[in-house]
Amino acid sequence: MSPRKIIIDTDPGQDDAVAILLALGSPEDVDVLGITAVAGNVPLDLTQKNARIVCELAGRPDIRVFAGCDHPLGRPLVTAEHVHGKSGLDGPDLPDPVMPLQDMHGVDFIIETLRTHEAGTVTLCALGPLTNLATALQRAPDIAQRVQQIILMGGAYFEVGNITPAAEFNIYVDPEAADVVFKSGIDIVVLPLDVTHKALVTAPRNDAFRDLGNPVGAAVADMTDFFERFDKEKYGATAAPLHDPCVLAYLISPYIFTGRFINVEIETGSELTMGMTVADWWRVTDRAPNATFIGDLDAEAFFDLLTERLARL
Ligand code: RIB
Ligand code: CA
Repeated sequence: MSPRKIIIDTDPGQDDAVAILLALGSPEDVDVLGITAVAGNVPLDLTQKNARIVCELAGRPDIRVFAGCDHPLGRPLVTAEHVHGKSGLDGPDLPDPVMPLQDMHGVDFIIETLRTHEAGTVTLCALGPLTNLATALQRAPDIAQRVQQIILMGGAYFEVGNITPAAEFNIYVDPEAADVVFKSGIDIVVLPLDVTHKALVTAPRNDAFRDLGNPVGAAVADMTDFFERFDKEKYGATAAPLHDPCVLAYLISPYIFTGRFINVEIETGSELTMGMTVADWWRVTDRAPNATFIGDLDAEAFFDLLTERLARL
């Protein structure tokens, strides 16, 4: 089977970086048409720079990286330096990028790519706030029917919030954008905190990254050593959750994951629960299902896949 054509929309972020590396280490499964950066974990000038740093770490300066939106649709940007550090990629000491940033705006790249490729052949892998995707859908409604699938990291039900008591960061930063995406009618797969909090980088798993003996393995291990402190302090966890790589792992090996096709709606009215993904997991309403909401994974299989693919870079 030919590799899936994808656009990665991202706000690197150490876990975004690992997701990008998983994609670039899987050429038989994934054809990365481009990477669009969005403001999220850190401001856009850093997310677009970090995306290029990661591509060069993977030995792929040929990958086209675009800068997208620098603020949410209708509210001030909230960032997460407290988790990812001031650079957004704290941990490893990686050189500034030499590869160029593309001139085209990331939203224009998304629209152009969907319009020029055969309908139903391009998947959008969203690893950050959904501002770029929503802006593209608002600017070019015709593209909704051309998207093969959206696979996104965001939201939570049983795990509730990580940035507020009710909301997960990616959705909370731009709930209006998430509302546009979840109402688009596109085939959506959601990797929420419910599953990513089960993808924990335990010490043996992080040692396996470092033991790969390549620069990628060392960098990923250093990234984990940095960002795990947030979850350890907050949750008393023994290890850091690898949120965004779950998106690419789902695309490559969906059978690792389990979930339900349910209704998911986004809170955009109440400041108290702003950005909450109201997931009808128990189907207690008659609201029409609109997303495959993932609740569990085979963590061993996930880390085996991830480690094997990072070893290739
Ligand atoms: O809540 C976790 C998500 O927010 C991840 O995508 C992380 O990179 C941040 O963007
Ligand atoms: Ca992210």
